[in-house]
Amino acid sequence: MNKVDLACLAKEDAFKLIGGDWMLVCAGKKDRFNMMTASWGGIGWLWNRPVAFVFIRPERYTHEFVEAEERLSLSFFTEEWREALKFCGSKSGRDFDKCKETGLSAVELESGAVAFGEARLTLDCRKLFKASMDKASFIDRDILAKWYSDNPGGSLHDVYVVEIESVYGVK
Ligand SMILES: Cc1cc2nc3c(=O)[nH]c(=O)nc-3n(C[C@H](O)[C@H](O)[C@H](O)COP(=O)(O)O)c2cc1C
Repeated sequence: MNKVDLACLAKEDAFKLIGGDWMLVCAGKKDRFNMMTASWGGIGWLWNRPVAFVFIRPERYTHEFVEAEERLSLSFFTEEWREALKFCGSKSGRDFDKCKETGLSAVELESGAVAFGEARLTLDCRKLFKASMDKASFIDRDILAKWYSDNPGGSLHDVYVVEIESVYGVK
């Protein structure tokens, strides 16, 4: 993995990158971390900083790590890793060693954040902001029924805005 200029993100189709390719959100330290697949989120600008935003339900094991850490990484892969992403998006790190099951290898970034050697693009991010969605804030109430009716009285997503501090690409 090579550190590359942030400007290389301009060559990416962020719409496809997150919604189509999906990403792994990973937080923790090399000896104890967890990752999950996410396809909701975005990259762009906020407070004049390059940022990403991700939405993580509190019941995810990954949430525990994201909460505990100052940083998280976002990793993007080529199509050959689709099955690995499906696994990380359907099984919990509470029950499985996701690296062992998928063949992904964890690497420690310069910042101490954990990412994956097989990724074609990695964003090393620092948390800036967190908010928990609340039911009263939904303007389109149909979304509540569609996405959260399986979880009555339960939690909605937490949104994290993270600053993209470094970008890594493949050689
Ligand atoms: C394509 C795809 C996209 C997903 N996007 C999100 C997401 O944006 N936010 C989220 O909280 N969960 C999302 N999930 C669900 C988590 O990845 C899934 O619950 C995972 O098993 C959590 O793992 P963990 O318990 O080890 O953290 C997605 C799953 C898939 C397959």
